[in-house]
Amino acid sequence: MKSIIALSSSLLLLLGAASAQEVQSKPFHLVISQAAKKSFNGEKLAACHSGAAIESLCLAGDSGSQFYLNYTKGEQAPVKGNGFPGALVWNLPLGGGDPPVESEPMSFYSDPSTNLAMPMFQPSYDQQDIFFDVKTQLMGIYSYLDDTVTPPTGDKVKVLKNWYLCETYYTGYTYHTLNWVYGNGKAKPQNPSCVKVQVERKFL
Ligand SMILES: *[C@@H]1O[C@H](CO)[C@@H](O)[C@H](O)[C@H]1NC(C)=O
Repeated sequence: MKSIIALSSSLLLLLGAASAQEVQSKPFHLVISQAAKKSFNGEKLAACHSGAAIESLCLAGDSGSQFYLNYTKGEQAPVKGNGFPGALVWNLPLGGGDPPVESEPMSFYSDPSTNLAMPMFQPSYDQQDIFFDVKTQLMGIYSYLDDTVTPPTGDKVKVLKNWYLCETYYTGYTYHTLNWVYGNGKAKPQNPSCVKVQVERKFL
């Protein structure tokens, strides 16, 4: 625990410097909706321990974690009527630390043997920006790249919502986690346990 706190506080200094013009949304839950397996609907996501100061996003019934959206003041949505992009943030309690929490951004963890990316919270410069649809509150990602055509292009914005709940294995932990499938909207996970879902923001 001591080494985690030492590591966290030095990274916190770096993160603090990097996030000077950032503002933070009110806290919210992330709730599963439109699941291909109906019993998942209404279940909340929680940050679950997956290593030292590393958390994945687990299916957690009614006991969801509080998340935040960190965004730059004045940020615009690239698609009219949609939300602006920002970092999904979870606060790791430091147990008597000062400050009492470590604010961790979400980034994607990938492994060469799978086409799933696991959203992970950890002290890092890396972050995977997400946004929430203004009307439906569903979480998505803006993407500009299209490499399904030759030559590939990067000038048209697309909205992707490639979310799946899957059984995943990460450094000894087997959990039911939220995942992203790499590729355009037609991409399919190779992991046979995956169930297509949407993720809805519900402010507390
Ligand atoms: C998110 O924003 C809050 C408020 O500005 C800040 O304290 C926190 O460090 C930020 N977190 C990250 C991961 O940038």
